Amino acid sequence: MDDIKEFSRLKEKIHKERGLDVNQYKENYLKRRLAVRMRALGLRLYGEYLKVLEKDSGEMAVLLDKLTINVTQFFRDPEVFIVFENDILPQMLSSGMKKISVWSAGCSSGEEPYSIAISIEETAEKLGIKGFDYEIHATDIDEAIIYKAIEGKYEGHTLDNVAASRRNKYFIKDGGFYRIKDSIKKKVKFIRANLMKPYLKEQFDFVFCRNVIIYFSRELQKNVLLYFHEALKKGGIFFMGKTETMLLEYRDKFKCINIKERIFTKLEEEKGE
Ligand SMILES: C[S@@+](CC[C@H](N)C(=O)[O-])C[C@H]1O[C@@H](n2cnc3c(N)ncnc32)[C@H](O)[C@@H]1O
Repeated sequence: MDDIKEFSRLKEKIHKERGLDVNQYKENYLKRRLAVRMRALGLRLYGEYLKVLEKDSGEMAVLLDKLTINVTQFFRDPEVFIVFENDILPQMLSSGMKKISVWSAGCSSGEEPYSIAISIEETAEKLGIKGFDYEIHATDIDEAIIYKAIEGKYEGHTLDNVAASRRNKYFIKDGGFYRIKDSIKKKVKFIRANLMKPYLKEQFDFVFCRNVIIYFSRELQKNVLLYFHEALKKGGIFFMGKTETMLLEYRDKFKCINIKERIFTKLEEEKGE
């Protein structure tokens, strides 16, 4: 079976219609995700699937949903949040900083940015720090998941890592669901944005991009890591996923401060004489 041309046409179609250049995802990943959808429809060839996409206007949304894996959880990898709450935040808060800006890039249904907000609230309270503010930008390519994040209503299993005291304090029980309280919700601004393009410059104290770039090709990882570097303020801190690795060529851009939790600080370029 030589389906290469159809595979290329399929990629072009997604790019043209949804602005997502899937050539920049790892090819094996892309093929695996396409196979999941095609199997569900009983199809074997990309050409057959193209015909379905042409006939059924809702199929593109289903495909995008399959391509962007949204799996997430509150306080995913809790050790990262322990370091954040015990070391990184206290240092920043006790330096007298008046406002903290955070970017959760690839935020999925909101569990990550809401967890960050809870961490900030709790740490400030524990340290008795008042009179400071924070805002969290949470971005994702997947429009449907952004709506879910804005709704802020979660099934119990996504809260497995949330202590009972935090559940009571920051969520409202709603039947079998938990709703995030407005006091936390109002701190998070959800925006649809593609990580393949630059976002803001020198805006953030913290950038979290966890379990996202693992699906990207090396070339795309190179660009995206540069966008994170640009987005961070001087001395800002970058958190990546525990199974992700920093590119060696960026040793002059990011200094590792915690290898186990994949935490880095932004390095400035040395200015020549
Ligand atoms: C596995 S989730 C990770 C969620 C969260 N960061 C965590 O660690 O739990 C990956 C998210 O990245 C998003 N994503 C994938 N490609 C993207 C892109 N090009 N631009 C923005 N978001 C993207 C997906 O839509 C998905 O919601």
